[in-house]
This record gives sequence, C-alpha cells and structure tokens, in this order.
Amino acid sequence: MSILSKHKFIETNASLLLILSFLVVTIGGLVQIVPLFYLENTIEKVEGMRPYSPLELTGRDIYVREGCYVCHSQMIRPMRDEVERYGHYSLAAESMYDHPHQWGSKRTGPDLARVGGRYSDDWHLDHLRDPQSVVPESIMPKYGFLERTLLESEHIEDLLKTHAIVGVPYTDEMIEAAAADFRAQADPDSDYDDMLERYPGAQVRNFDGQPGISEADALIAYLQMLGTLVDFSTFTPDANR
Ligand code: HEC
Repeated sequence: MSILSKHKFIETNASLLLILSFLVVTIGGLVQIVPLFYLENTIEKVEGMRPYSPLELTGRDIYVREGCYVCHSQMIRPMRDEVERYGHYSLAAESMYDHPHQWGSKRTGPDLARVGGRYSDDWHLDHLRDPQSVVPESIMPKYGFLERTLLESEHIEDLLKTHAIVGVPYTDEMIEAAAADFRAQADPDSDYDDMLERYPGAQVRNFDGQPGISEADALIAYLQMLGTLVDFSTFTPDANR
C-alpha cells in the first residue's frame, strides 16, 4: 500500500480516524504540558527585582484602595506602539511580588508600569491634588486628601508578614525593621543605610515636601519606583536564564 492509499484508508474509516486524531492531540498536548510539571518556577529570575520596601508597599495598598487599577494598567504588551510609548515591555518577574497583580483590565488613563522617574515628585503632588491643573483635559479624579492623611505605620509589620505568607521573601529581619525602614525612606536626614541594604535602589526623600509621612508620601514613593528596578540598559533575556 502506498502512503496515499493508507491515508485514504484512514480517512474513509471514521472510527479509526477519530482514534488516531485523538492519539495525535494527546501526544501533542502532553509534549506541551508535561515539562511544566518539572519546572519549579515558570518566572524567569531577573536581576534587580526585590520585594517592595515598607513605604512602597504601603503606597501600593493605597493604590489598590483607591482603585487606581480601574483606570490604569501596569502591563506593557510586547507590541511596537506600546513599547514606543511606555518603554520596554513588562516582564513576568516584574509582577512577581504583586499580590494581587496590578495588570488591570482597562486603560482609561495611561499604563503606569514604567511611570517611575518620568515626572518629579512635585508634578505627582500637583497631579494628585488636581489633575486638571497639569493636564487640562484629564478626567482623573482629585486625590488631595492623600497628602492631608498622615500614616502611623502601626500595621506595617503585619502587612509585610501577610505578604510573606503568600510567598514574598520578606525575612524576619525585614519584618522586624519594617517600621524603622518605613520612616527612614521618607526622611533624608535619617540613618537609612540599613534600609537601603535591605531594599537596594529604594529612593529616599520627603516625597510630598511636608512634615509627617502622609499617604501621598507612600503613594508617590510607590509610583516613582514602578518600572525602575530592572535595568533595561543591561538586561538581555537570555543572559538571565
Ligand atoms: C477615572 C479614571 C482614573 C482613575 C480612577 C485614576 N486615574 Fe490616573 N489618569 C487618568 C487619566 C485619564 C490620565 C491621563 C491624563 C492625566 O495625566 O491626568 C491619568 C494619568 C495618570 C498619571 C500620569 C501618567 C503618565 O504617564 O502621564 C499618573 C501617575 C496617574 N494617573 C496616577 C493615578 C493614581 C495613583 C490613581 C489612584 C490614586 C489614579 N491615577 C486614578 C485616569 C484615572
């Protein structure tokens, strides 16, 4: 029997065709799925990613509380128009310490995955206070109350502990120092060297320029960190594998 006539035999025999198709699909599926069971982690490790500092994590909580994700995504897709507008496409590792992730599902405003360092703290402060004062056509709501709401950080240890439970590698030392690190990052006159050792690259400033640590301090610290942890001038996907 030639190959063609064998093929004809299979094609004209419905049950046999069904069984063989099923076999082919099963083998194809197994080849794709089985290797995943033997990988410990499907997220590629990337240099620079670290757990968020206590102040950044607090800012992130405020971001979630205020529903910023309803209008903003944090996921730059690997498509040319996105990359040209927002910067390097997002890596899975950049969301690895986000519980829950902040990819969002709708963009009423721009993607914020790489907004860190794009504007000054003052710009953010003005923009949160009154978005229309810096972008007249903006439909973003005003968040002026954030700079008037001071934070006591009494629950900061619990916040880190909770994230540690779901897998963020906060050490006992980080949890113990959480309240001190929280204050150190917002006070350029403090002794912040230990905090920087625990959270390399954390930016130390009085973000809202006012006494006390406000919700605006925490939120701006978080925004200014977004997308800055991985150095894309040296990042190559393969070298990090
Ligand atoms: C109702 C939708 C909406 C909500 C909610 C919202 N924003 Fe926006 N946001 C916008 C729009 C629209 C813009 C673009 C115009 C502008 O810059 O104000 C924007 C712009 C921004 C920008 C400037 C981004 C850039 O690259 O120029 C930042 C930063 C920002 N928003 C942060 C936040 C934060 C933080 C929150 C939550 C406290 C928030 N937004 C909530 C709609 C929203």
